[in-house]
Amino acid sequence: MSNETIEALIAQLDVVDGSPGADALRARSYELLRPLPDGLVVDVGCGTGRAVAELADRGARATGIDVSDQMIALARQRWPHGEFHGGDACALPLRDGQATGYRADKVIHALPDPGRALAEARRVLAPDGRIVLCGQDWDTFVIDSTDPELTRTIVHRRADLVPSPRAARRYRNLLLDAGFRDVTVEVHTAVFTDDSFLPVLTNLAETCREHGAITAAEAEAWIADQQERARTDRLFAAVPLFMAAATNP
Ligand SMILES: C[S@@+](CC[C@H](N)C(=O)[O-])C[C@H]1O[C@@H](n2cnc3c(N)ncnc32)[C@H](O)[C@@H]1O
Repeated sequence: MSNETIEALIAQLDVVDGSPGADALRARSYELLRPLPDGLVVDVGCGTGRAVAELADRGARATGIDVSDQMIALARQRWPHGEFHGGDACALPLRDGQATGYRADKVIHALPDPGRALAEARRVLAPDGRIVLCGQDWDTFVIDSTDPELTRTIVHRRADLVPSPRAARRYRNLLLDAGFRDVTVEVHTAVFTDDSFLPVLTNLAETCREHGAITAAEAEAWIADQQERARTDRLFAAVPLFMAAATNP
């Protein structure tokens, strides 16, 4: 990822982390992980590291792994007491059965072959270890707009640029196919109504423009509409967030 792309991603992650309900959602993921006092919980695709710090605060032994050196550097800077390592979700720097918990938040959609990552999750998890996957389905962003047709184009064309855009709706089947048991799925909808969500909306349109999916004039008009909505308290976006949990046999 280019520096610009990663900076935009960090800005968007900060928006999501600061949104109403985000704390409760992460707390729910920790609850579903059921961390054991002496067990290792791995947060795969840990990004800027908040979950690792929060798990450690709850008494868990947590480690964050991310493929991006920049993310790992920022995570270490933000959470100096946290443990973070570079590594790939499909080749984790962990021994067989070393972890009792595996968490991946907004990560599985970034992988071209989610099944490989889940096979790797099974390898590093001990028997009865828990896995929790969270994330959005890129085809189901609900955004009020003055131009619904252009909005549909933006949402779908942006989704087409994600390696596995509909991974979240497949969490249950992916977990079952990988051999996990006791699979559960919850859906929590995040609602955004103010200008804090503008960086995410702007990125949707700008990314489509960069890839030729919409024109510069369309991107400009669509972003201006969202900015005006934020200014007049008429911005509305809803994003269903899927959370699946399961147990390693
Ligand atoms: C959308 S961010 C989510 C970060 C964090 N989990 C959160 O919820 O804020 C996705 C993260 O997954 C990381 N990532 C992408 N592909 C990966 C891979 N193959 N292995 C490990 N991490 C990966 C990215 O570098 C990025 O930090």
